[in-house]
Amino acid sequence: MKTVFRAAQEHVPHGTCPERDWKECEAFGEEKLLSLIDRTQLPKHLAIIMDGNGRWAAKRHLPRIAGHKEGISAVREIVTLARQLGICYLTLYAFSNENWNRPTTEVSQLMRLLGLYLKKELNTLMADKVRLKAIGQIERLPKSIAKLLLSVEEQTSQNKEMTLILALSYSGRAEILDAVRNFCGDLQDQKLSLHDLSETIFSNYLYTTGIPDPDLMIRTSGEIRVSNFFLWQMAYTELYFTKTLWPDFRRKEFLMALLDYQGRDRRFGKISQI
Ligand code: FPP
Repeated sequence: MKTVFRAAQEHVPHGTCPERDWKECEAFGEEKLLSLIDRTQLPKHLAIIMDGNGRWAAKRHLPRIAGHKEGISAVREIVTLARQLGICYLTLYAFSNENWNRPTTEVSQLMRLLGLYLKKELNTLMADKVRLKAIGQIERLPKSIAKLLLSVEEQTSQNKEMTLILALSYSGRAEILDAVRNFCGDLQDQKLSLHDLSETIFSNYLYTTGIPDPDLMIRTSGEIRVSNFFLWQMAYTELYFTKTLWPDFRRKEFLMALLDYQGRDRRFGKISQI
């Protein structure tokens, strides 16, 4: 089992793994990979940067929107499996503050897809007891989308099996600034004093208040950066980068990423227990 973990682990830093180890892992079927997962060692909070939709479409000579549509299909598959495995929090970085700078047609197509996803997915979220939460500068989204999000959040608010967090119009730096602004407002209103400021208190001002920091962050498409995502929260997050484009990131590779994570030695600045 250790070999499997190591092989999965070594694949990730962009081809540094011996080819035969990766092949050995890839040869396993989904059932085998599933059986290797230790359900007691899952990330409590998993965050994903879903990247590569445009390239997926370009490779097929399709418009970019086709990549986003296929990306939604991957979203469904990953959300379902995460919920089945028992992951408590899953955050998907679906639209960044920087994404507003894309051509207006792409932005409106993405907003339309988001609206369709929310409408279509409500029944499944309810059946699977998944709570939906949106984080980011939601007020910048088209009014109809913001309203829909609020409605889905309210309707799913009592669901307890998993929390699906959609980061929309989100940026880590903006989140930190918003937190500082709100903290200073509370200082002015004398709700607390400067002496109260601690990492825990500050975390309460972030969009993710009440949600544990991510244990694992996956980024698809081969880019090795965090792109303004969870800048505060990722202090001790394990990172998994894969060249797979988001629309192709499906159950099997998701399981590989989890096995990889389970093979890591998380020390949080301390020394190893061995
Ligand atoms: C990055 O690919 C992806 C996005 C900016 C949007 C992600 C959106 C989805 C997967 C669909 C909507 C999501 C939900 C949750 C309903 P890219 O366009 O940057 O790809 P590229 O880097 O290859 O151009």
